Amino acid sequence: MFTDADDANATSVRAWRDRPAGHQPDWPDAGDLEATVAYLRTLPPLVFAGEADRLQREMAAASRGEAFVLMGGDCAESFEEATASHIRAKIRTILQMAVILTYGASVPVVKIGRMAGQYSKPRSAPTETRDGTTLPSYFGDAVNGHEFSRPSRTPDPRRLVEAYQRSAATLNLIRAFTTGGFADLDKVHEWNKGFMANPAYARYETVATEIDRAMRFMLAAGVNHESLRTVDLYASHEALILPYEEALTRVDSRTGQPYDCSAHFLWIGERTRDVDGAHVELLSRVRNPIGVKLGPSARPADVLALVDRLNPEGTPGRLTLIARMGASTVQERLPALVEAVRDDGRPVTWVTDPMHGNTISASNGMKTRRLADILAEIRGFFSVHESLGTKPGGIHVELTGDDVTEVLGGSEEIVEDTLPARYETLVDPRLNHQQSLEMAFLVSEMLRDVHL
Ligand code: TRP
Ligand code: MN
Repeated sequence: MFTDADDANATSVRAWRDRPAGHQPDWPDAGDLEATVAYLRTLPPLVFAGEADRLQREMAAASRGEAFVLMGGDCAESFEEATASHIRAKIRTILQMAVILTYGASVPVVKIGRMAGQYSKPRSAPTETRDGTTLPSYFGDAVNGHEFSRPSRTPDPRRLVEAYQRSAATLNLIRAFTTGGFADLDKVHEWNKGFMANPAYARYETVATEIDRAMRFMLAAGVNHESLRTVDLYASHEALILPYEEALTRVDSRTGQPYDCSAHFLWIGERTRDVDGAHVELLSRVRNPIGVKLGPSARPADVLALVDRLNPEGTPGRLTLIARMGASTVQERLPALVEAVRDDGRPVTWVTDPMHGNTISASNGMKTRRLADILAEIRGFFSVHESLGTKPGGIHVELTGDDVTEVLGGSEEIVEDTLPARYETLVDPRLNHQQSLEMAFLVSEMLRDVHL
């Protein structure tokens, strides 16, 4: 249960307001924004503290190599696509990847959707100019509309309320699908779709057949545990729009501690990880498990300063470092960071984001990524940990359950000419369903080597 008590903990959550906050939209009316925050504060939390604590224990297991984290979902969710069929497809992709990893490497998989709240984006420029017209950039559906017109691009705090509502509806469906039968391991065949001529689907079919046999064996042997039928699928997003995150932060009456109840797991982006900035300040005050993205410019001293601010006591599972270095730089830039944290001794969970350091422009100007680069970065991440004696704790990927054509490569190869066929992302290119499965098979092989 949560109290609304305006005690010391609740007040401390406002401390970010005294710090520089990067990448905040230019809201046209401060009064409107504060009224929205006050309204959001009256709405129920989306997740509860006990769930965040449980995830923290699972992240701790991943930091020790006793579990592996799979985080995935859209670069930016949109209100329009928060429909049952899109959500179901994304959950199915995550479940199939999780099955491949769990079965292939015999290691528990911590499943986290980049879902139910991933509605805001930091942008490289605050404005965008087309044909002589300059308007605010698209900051995500929680802030403004994607359409290039003044009414649509003007930040509107009512969108924060819609983001909350869409997140609530998405979480409701996630909870229904993951506990109501859809995630049952006797459904592994039903999740598969598409033509078996596709190597990823055919390979999945083989795994599914093996799991079916194992399930029948267990049932025959009298094992029929609830855990075979349900999964925990946690929700996460970038904690970017600070008034929203503040409004959803509630003091847990059991522990007296503040939790950001907009999601189980929140992360700070590469562009907002300034150790003295407002984003670090806010997340330093909440008890959720949290992450920080680290790009190639991060130095060991920056990372240690973040550990000091975000996990001074070294609570296992509290802090995840998500490296997004790029395939060509991961082997060069990551080791010094991993080494510094290893020598410091406070535990962190190391996760690779193999997407954001590998964005390129196709010759037609479309923003894309090569599956080969993405896989190369994951391999580099595993090899860095192997050589330093540390644990690769998980992957963070941008994916969709749909058959989009946004990332180059894959066994049903997407080439530059076929990119426009189904290029639907509002921001960054995502792995499609079959590319996601292909990646899961590769990661399961790498993980098997770690665990043998
Ligand atoms: N509950 C277990 C887990 O989450 C086993 C399980 C049930 C599972 N359904 C699943 C694993 C679907 C992966 C996908 O690991
Ligand atoms: Mn992205």
